[in-house]
Amino acid sequence: MAMRRAGETERQAEPNLLHINGEPVSSRSLRKQSGIRSELQSKWRIAMPGLSRIGVSLEEALLQQFDRLIAERGYQTRSEAFRDLIREKLLSKIVKSNKPVVGTLTIVYDHHIPSLSEKLTEIQHNAGLMILAATHIHLDHNHCLEVIIMKGRGKDLQAVADGMIAMRGVELGKLVLANSGDNLKHTSHLN
Ligand code: NI
Repeated sequence: MAMRRAGETERQAEPNLLHINGEPVSSRSLRKQSGIRSELQSKWRIAMPGLSRIGVSLEEALLQQFDRLIAERGYQTRSEAFRDLIREKLLSKIVKSNKPVVGTLTIVYDHHIPSLSEKLTEIQHNAGLMILAATHIHLDHNHCLEVIIMKGRGKDLQAVADGMIAMRGVELGKLVLANSGDNLKHTSHLN
C-alpha cells in the first residue's frame, strides 16, 4: 500500500507541536492568536479551495499501529482514515447533544415467542414519524431479521431501540447512528 509519510514535509520531529503547512504551531499559540490559523488556512485554500492540509507528529510505534489498523480496514490513505476518526468523534458529540440523527436498528428474533412480533410492531407504531422504513426477512423456520430505519434525536432513537432489543426472544440487536446529512460533505475524491 503506497501511502505518503505524514511527517515528510516537517523539518524536525516535535511530538508536542501541531504543524500547519510544515510550520510548527503550538495549540496554545493557536488559541491565543487564532489569526495564525486562518492566515495559514487561507494561504492553502488558494492552492486547493475548501481543503486544509495539516501535518501530524506522532510516535513511530503509534504510527505503525495506526498503519496496521487502517490497512486491515482497507483504507488506501491515512488522510481518509483520519477523516473518518474525526467524523466518528463529531458524530458521538452530536448524539450526546441530542441533535437529529438517522439510525438503523437491526434485530434478529424468534417469531415463535408468543406475541413478540405484535409487540415489536406496536413499539414502531408508537414511535410514529421516527420510523422511516422497516424491512422484514424470514431467515429460517424460527428466525426473523428486521432492519428498521429511523430519524430523530439520538436519545429517542436509542430508547426505541432499547425497548425492542430488551424483549425476550430478540436474540440480537444493534443500533447504528449516523449524521442526519446536515453539514456532511462528499470528500470521497480527496486522498
Ligand atoms: Ni419472519
